[in-house]
Order: sequence, then C-alpha cells, then structure tokens
Amino acid sequence: MAASDVAYRPATDADTRAINEVGERAFDDLARRHGWSDTPIDEAGIERELEAQCSLYRHLSETADQFWVAEQQGRIVGVARSIVRGDLRELTELFVLPDAQGIGIGAELLRRAFPKKTSETRCILSTPDLPALACYLKAGVAIRFPNYGFARPPRDAPLSTDLSFEPLTGRKEMLQALDEIDDVVLGHRRTVDHRWLVADRPGWIYRRQGNVAGYGYAGRQSGPFALLDPADFPVVLAHAEAMVARAGHETFSVVVPMMNESAIAHLLGRGFRLDPFFSYLMSDKPFGRFAQYIETTPTFFL
Ligand SMILES: CC(C)(COP(=O)(O)OP(=O)(O)OC[C@H]1O[C@@H](n2cnc3c(N)ncnc32)[C@H](O)[C@@H]1OP(=O)(O)O)[C@@H](O)C(=O)NCCC(=O)NCCS
Repeated sequence: MAASDVAYRPATDADTRAINEVGERAFDDLARRHGWSDTPIDEAGIERELEAQCSLYRHLSETADQFWVAEQQGRIVGVARSIVRGDLRELTELFVLPDAQGIGIGAELLRRAFPKKTSETRCILSTPDLPALACYLKAGVAIRFPNYGFARPPRDAPLSTDLSFEPLTGRKEMLQALDEIDDVVLGHRRTVDHRWLVADRPGWIYRRQGNVAGYGYAGRQSGPFALLDPADFPVVLAHAEAMVARAGHETFSVVVPMMNESAIAHLLGRGFRLDPFFSYLMSDKPFGRFAQYIETTPTFFL
C-alpha cells in the first residue's frame, strides 16, 4: 500500500461500524504481538465487542472535538479521535489496520485529531505499542506514569466506615458535586462524561459527616473513582467490590495509576491479580492528582 493512495476526511455516523472494526483489528494484532492473547479475533468477536461498547462509542462520537478517518479506495484503514473537556484535550483512539501500518497514516491522523498548536493541556492514555509511543513522543507528550488493571472474582466483604454511600443520579446538584471533585483531583470538569457514566453503570457519591469525600462507579465495567483523601480507597474499593458481587458480575476490575499507593496496597492485600496489559498516561505538561484517582474502564479516556 502506498501513502499517496490514502485520503483523510472527518468521520461521519455512516463510518461507525468500519471505524470500530479498525480499532478491534488493530488492538487484536497488538495483543497477539505482545502475547496478551493467542487467538485471532473473528467476525463474531468483533460484533460482540461492538455491541458491548456501543453506548461508549456513541458517547465519544457525540462529544468528539476532532474525529478523522483515513481511507484507501473506499476502505477505512485508520481512525483518530479526540475530546476536549474544560482545558484538557484527550486522544481517545488512534488505530491503523495492521496491513496499512508503517507508512505514515498514524502520524497524519494524529496531526489532524491531536494538533500541537492548541491552548489546551494534551493527554493520551497510550498502549505500550512502540510505533504508538514513537508517534506520541514526536507529537510532544511525555510519559508521566503507567496504569495497570487489577482484577479478581468479586467478594461481598465491605469494610466498616464512617463514610456514607449515596447512589449517583443525573440530578443537577449531584453533577455539580462531581464537577467540584474533578476540579480538585483532575483540574478540569467533564459533566458530559458523568451524564453518560451515570446512565451506563452504578455509581455513588461518598460523604463524611455530610461533606462530599469523593465518587466512584462500579458495575459490569468500573471506574472512575476520585477521592479527596486517598486513605479512603480501601473502604470505597471494598464497597464497590461488594456491589459488583451482589449484582452477580463475574469480575471486578479497576485500572489504577501506579502512584496510587493506597489503592494498590488494598488490591494486592486482597489477592487481586495484575493484568499484563498496561497503559501509560502521557501529557505535554503535568496535571492532576493521580494518587487520588482510578481510571474509567475500558481505557479510552480518564
Ligand atoms: C500506533 C499506530 C496507530 C501507528 O500507526 P502507523 O500508521 O503504523 O504509524 P506511522 O507509520 O505514521 O508512524 C510510526 C512511527 O513509529 C516509528 N517507530 C516504529 N517503531 C519504532 C521503534 N521501535 N522506535 C522508534 N520509532 C519507531 C516509525 O519510524 C514511524 O515514525 P516516522 O514516520 O517518523 O519514521 C498503529 O501502529 C496501531 O494501530 N497500533 C496498534 C494500536 C495501538 O496501540 N494504538 C494506540 C492506541 S493509544
């Protein structure tokens, strides 16, 4: 394939299926290259994954700032998308089909979806794929820390605490409280993401003596969690795990910034296993208090 055959254009709703297939095939190839998986994904696997994540993909499409595809003779071979929340631009996806990699498509998509000249802080949750890292480092972001998944079958064993747990709803006052926690922990607001998260998975706001102490989401997929005091991670993770066990899910898994010592000590102490797949948080400047944070799964945005 020649780079000169490739055209770039903004994505449309009609591209949804093809774009998601590019993401699944590129990720599957990466997983097999790294030994995280040994069975190639088939059509049925792609359909299952699309169905499982269709609400997330719709949310990202509806709230994207830049959303580009690369096309060769009518076939979509690459995709890149970024979202802007407050003063943070996040790259949510960059994927090129395995047979189209290595000829400059990824770098060109990145230039369009994740421009260097922008006033926002720029951030990526990157796979450890070497071409991806090379593209990102050249685009001016640096590795800040790795994130690892921790998982196990959930147990219903909450810890005693003075925190109270109130189920999250999309009520205005509640979204306002979540925004205020994000101001402190991440340094920006993302109300549209909380609206989507509240509809997608169970969540709770944590209070101590009536004062907001943090929030967390846990269900078929879990995260994000943000706490004003990281010492509360054992209690909120034990509560979240118990809720996931009671809902009958087979696994409780969370993706943790590796400087979140409070969460890591709790999870390893309870027998959680580290997942071999990991990601890096990359950004063009330091931001956020990630010892007080656990990321959203699946790993598309913070
Ligand atoms: C990451 C990805 C999108 C890149 O797309 P691509 O079209 O292959 O990328 P390009 O050809 O534009 O650029 C790759 C760059 O990596 C460089 N590169 C590759 N391996 C490298 C290595 N080991 N060390 C240094 N540079 C390396 C290449 O030289 C090239 O840079 P150059 O054009 O300046 O020479 C694609 O490889 C992919 O889909 N990977 C799997 C999915 C993934 O992990 N995506 C990232 C999600 S966060």
